Amino acid sequence: MRVVILEDSVVASRWAANFIAEQIRRKPTSVLGLATGGTPVRCYDQLIQFHKNDQLDFSQIQTFNLDEYLGLPPEDSNSYRRFMQENFFDHVNVVPARTHVPDGMAKDIDSHCQEYERRIKESGGIDLQLLGIGSDGHIAFNEPGSSLASRTRLKSLAMETVQDNARFFGSEEKVPRLAITMGVGTIMESRQCLLLATGANKATAVREAIEGPVTAKVTASALQMHPATIAVLDEAAAAEL
Ligand code: GLP
Repeated sequence: MRVVILEDSVVASRWAANFIAEQIRRKPTSVLGLATGGTPVRCYDQLIQFHKNDQLDFSQIQTFNLDEYLGLPPEDSNSYRRFMQENFFDHVNVVPARTHVPDGMAKDIDSHCQEYERRIKESGGIDLQLLGIGSDGHIAFNEPGSSLASRTRLKSLAMETVQDNARFFGSEEKVPRLAITMGVGTIMESRQCLLLATGANKATAVREAIEGPVTAKVTASALQMHPATIAVLDEAAAAEL
């Protein structure tokens, strides 16, 4: 795994955005895997700037998001679909039908998950997957204990994740306990992965993911086995390496 350590979250986010922009310039029909959470917001801001100032063209890309809370409709202020619209899609020239986020309201969850996997395959597979990391070392919603071969499926959230994400919902009780998430196996099939982690509260998870044993207890550690993963960290997140 290549590890890039930069001074702060602003510089790290800019580095990640530049890397994604390069991918799109090289292959305008790129299939991007996208992430939500606080970490990628600055990276999306920078990509929006590239669109506005440098005409970076998103019209031919396809996107697949990692996950979605179960039971939240797309228009819910906390849904990941809404997050993507507000923080990225609404500000660039993506074709809406080419943006994919799991449907938190799917009636038949198993067949929706299979269909999501099928659509990823049909697109030709993910060229570049952007990832954050949970404070317990998870990627997407692959909580500790998730099989490293897992596929898109329904997953229950760990208490630590519910507590971490309560800041978006106002209280812990409002955080859904279940989510649809790409599996670790799904993520590992991406041609490249870009793990972005910033802030001191990620330092332990980052150390375990990059330098610890490969284990289902820290699902980000599977990325050690991925042939083309770059971890982009700020100094605070890299402090325990
Ligand atoms: C959630 C998301 C992950 C994300 C993590 C960290 O659990 N499902 O994809 O990486 O939160 O989020 P943040 O960037 O807000 O710390």
